[in-house]
Amino acid sequence: MAEDFIAILDFGSQYTHLIARRIRDLEVRSELFPWNISVKELKLIKPKGIILSGSPASVYEKDAPVCNKDIFDLGIPILGICYGMQIMAYTLGGSVMMSKKREYGKTEITVDDESDLLQGTGKRTIVWMSHGDYVALLPEGFDVIAHSENCSIAAMRKKGRNLFGLQFHPEVAHTKKGIEVFRNFVFNICRCEPTWKMESFIENVISETKEKVKDEKVLCALSGGVDSSTVATLIHKAIGNSLTCIFVDHGLLRKDEPPQIVKTFRDNYNMKIIYVNASDRFLCRLKGVVDPEEKRRIVGEEFIKVFTEEGKKLGNFQWLAQGTLYPDVIESAKAGSPASRIKTHHNVAGLPGWMSFKLLEPLRMLYKDEVRRVASLLGLPEEIVRRHPFPGPGLSVRIMGEVTKEKVEVCREAGHIVEDELRKAGLYNEVWQAFAIVGDDKAVGVLGDKKRFGHVVTIRIVESKDGMTADWLRLPYEILEGMSNRITNEVPNVTWVTYAISSKPPSTIEPC
Ligand code: XMP
Repeated sequence: MAEDFIAILDFGSQYTHLIARRIRDLEVRSELFPWNISVKELKLIKPKGIILSGSPASVYEKDAPVCNKDIFDLGIPILGICYGMQIMAYTLGGSVMMSKKREYGKTEITVDDESDLLQGTGKRTIVWMSHGDYVALLPEGFDVIAHSENCSIAAMRKKGRNLFGLQFHPEVAHTKKGIEVFRNFVFNICRCEPTWKMESFIENVISETKEKVKDEKVLCALSGGVDSSTVATLIHKAIGNSLTCIFVDHGLLRKDEPPQIVKTFRDNYNMKIIYVNASDRFLCRLKGVVDPEEKRRIVGEEFIKVFTEEGKKLGNFQWLAQGTLYPDVIESAKAGSPASRIKTHHNVAGLPGWMSFKLLEPLRMLYKDEVRRVASLLGLPEEIVRRHPFPGPGLSVRIMGEVTKEKVEVCREAGHIVEDELRKAGLYNEVWQAFAIVGDDKAVGVLGDKKRFGHVVTIRIVESKDGMTADWLRLPYEILEGMSNRITNEVPNVTWVTYAISSKPPSTIEPC
């Protein structure tokens, strides 16, 4: 019997992925589809329920995404969220208007009918609103099931037809009973069984990889981080020796990383691994470059060059496997427009045009904590499963200004001390990332009996759930002091240590 699943039609909201995430948390498979998926295809894939996502568009705009009206006649329960609700109302003959004032933030709603979708939410509950338009007139047969002071139709329903609309966002954590709303929709209304586990994700990736790759060959850029390690292990399970991993040491890795990684995968997993020490090449190309985006671009480009050169020596490969995660995909999409360019995450946006591989990115819909669950289920060692995320361009994004051999050493050694002290304090697994930053600022200190003009090292330790937002860690002074003492004593030419106390936003996690 086919597994129950929910189809999410993506109209382009920044929250769409969170909807999929919430449903997966309920152990029901959910998949994103383009908003204009045909009715024929929907009939073929047979979802147990459909969710229409939000969108930055307005239904009455000229090129607004409008789904096929026949979807509402399929007899499959449908939940429209924000724009999804508006498009449902608009398509079925209701009306949508532009508010005088955009409603954004936490709002209290009053629940008028708790019998189905809003069961268990309580008479009054806090929800997250983010809309400029609203449903002004219900389509025929619909009734209001919740309202708020500013929004007389905060939720609507067509009884007997299982069509629902919510003006607010149940997928956002600020909506107190959001998960209850999804539970009601998925289990009580769509009658899904909770059968989607990470184990099924693993099985699916393995069988899909086999199917896609057939008897072709795959190269994987293994970095030893949890993402690429998980990808390599999954693909190795699917196709065994048709996978070759290339571990490019760009000289910008954490302390002791290269030998540990090669040993783990060669000895424990019997994988084919080619180790390439290309440190000099990268340093040479980065000489004199100070612009952060340029550094990323160079590292990304050089990485792919080394990688393809090595690949060519090994024979003919058709596929490239990468550990791209969902936050990388979203941030790179945001960076797509020049005005909102944030950072180019090189494993997504920076692939040069001449690269001729087909891409395998089995983790591109997952978040870090989900990847860690997969890694753990695959039996990867704890040091890899719990290892902090590390950016593709490595220490180059933690070195402000030009990347020099000396600054790389300072950054690497000081970063190692930060991690080490955090481990000793039992806090390593509690934080998202902990590292050291070095730039060109120098400050006076006394080393031995001599006054010296040495580096200023900044410690950055942040808590985060998915890297999209982050808060700096309120670390006890004694631990900070221990880190500072060790850094100034053990790392040559460091005279000052500072602690970064800015959160994301407005800062980013990495300084470059
Ligand atoms: P930012 O600095 O953008 O980082 O707040 C968010 C998360 O992404 C990681 N990061 C990268 N990962 N390639 C990567 O693979 C990159 O270019 C890159 N830049 C940042 C960062 O370490 C943090 O966890």
